[in-house]
Amino acid sequence: MANVVIVGTQWGDEGKGKVVDLYAQSADVIARFQGGNNAGHTLVVGGKQTILHLIPSGILHAGKLCIIGNGVVVDPSVLIEEMNTLRNRGLLPDSTRLLVSEKAHIIMPYHRRIDVARESHGVGKKIGTTGRGIGPAYEDKIARVGIRLCDLLDDVVFREKLSRNIEEKNFYLTKLFAEEPLDEKAIYEEYRTYAEALRPYAADCSLIMQREIDKGKRILFEGAQGNHLDIDHGTFPYVTSSNTVAANACCGTGVGPSSVQSVVGICKAYTTRVGEGPFLTELKDETGARLQQVGQEFGATTGRKRRCGWLDMVLIRQAIRVSGITGIALTKLDVLTGIEKLKICTGYRMDQEEFTESVPANLRILNCCRPLYEELDGWSEDIRGAKQIEDLPANTRRYIERLEALAGVGMVLVSVGPDRDETIILNDPFAG
Ligand code: GDP
Ligand code: IMO
Ligand code: MG
Repeated sequence: MANVVIVGTQWGDEGKGKVVDLYAQSADVIARFQGGNNAGHTLVVGGKQTILHLIPSGILHAGKLCIIGNGVVVDPSVLIEEMNTLRNRGLLPDSTRLLVSEKAHIIMPYHRRIDVARESHGVGKKIGTTGRGIGPAYEDKIARVGIRLCDLLDDVVFREKLSRNIEEKNFYLTKLFAEEPLDEKAIYEEYRTYAEALRPYAADCSLIMQREIDKGKRILFEGAQGNHLDIDHGTFPYVTSSNTVAANACCGTGVGPSSVQSVVGICKAYTTRVGEGPFLTELKDETGARLQQVGQEFGATTGRKRRCGWLDMVLIRQAIRVSGITGIALTKLDVLTGIEKLKICTGYRMDQEEFTESVPANLRILNCCRPLYEELDGWSEDIRGAKQIEDLPANTRRYIERLEALAGVGMVLVSVGPDRDETIILNDPFAG
């Protein structure tokens, strides 16, 4: 019996929410381990859509324990709002179904202000962040000045840490960006109410998860963003500020690596990206516009149009290596229906050099590369009702087989529509 990590293999929005919701049926504990409310995970059950930014995508299943791990940065106002929405739907009866690590760092108003100010004042390169304060919150964690949930819950510690931070952040905001300073007292009052709302949910999640593992319970780790938005392994600096690769499931929850047996990489049948940064297979033509429209590629957090392009196997191969992916979940295959000729990028070329396994780290080199494509015949049949692989047209199966061959890793599922039911299950990752 395995514990399973779910990660995105591209630049996010691969359909992690859908797959986590589906696999949550077989899990006992579902844990987020990094990122914050920059994530937007969409779940569709019986036609009803739910978008989650912080709470794990297992919350729609009764009787499962959902955990927000220490590696997540938590904006309390967003979390409380999400909790209230779920509570109104009868999905969050008490504090036994959702726990937040007392070590998780808290997003403060100055984090959001700094994030937005940097992006709009043109200091350094524009990243196209979600503006949610994610980067500045992680900066404070690394600088050892961040405020954790356990600090927020302790009035003496909170007052002192807030005061020290406000002094520094106000200096930065007013002197560098000529912005209005933040009001310490107002923030203190606002966050005091958040502290009381969150107190029942705060816990030593590492210990709780270990006890569940010892009882033989199954853990599902839910990644946010994607492997190429990873702070170390992504297209730096056009990345997010956390490690999105599978190894961080352990650091971000306090569970040892020997407790993870399976890693499922979510791979969209084409590629999308929100925000700035290199994207070699991007299509700025009719086909790109078609993918965007048919795939409804709008950011689930910011509503921005997602950039679209062909499937890029260099991205997928690197993700498989760095995250130790043992199975691929292919999503949004239905969006390719009706495109006559499909392209898969198998490598990049710059002069005489070819890159097939790794994305060049130097963006100047990457931006000089051109994608090498293989062309496959498309299909026109509607595939959304397919329940097993045999229901798919021959050309659809060929696309899947080619992808598997180029990846060197087999499929665990193929998703042919947004609904939980619109899925072809091939292998059970919990079987280990
Ligand atoms: P996440 O961030 O990885 O959880 O992905 P998002 O929720 O941001 O974006 C994925 C979008 O695709 C959502 O609107 C999903 O409802 C939708 N989706 C997921 N799987 C499929 C699929 O197989 N086909 C189609 N057409 N839509 C899908
Ligand atoms: P999910 O979990 C897609 C992108 C932003 C920006 C960069 C840095 O839904 O897949 P940040 O606010 O994190 O500092 O922004 O990362 N980004 C995402 N793109 N899906 C996400 O999450 C993302 N989270 C951050 O657009 O380019
Ligand atoms: Mg998303």
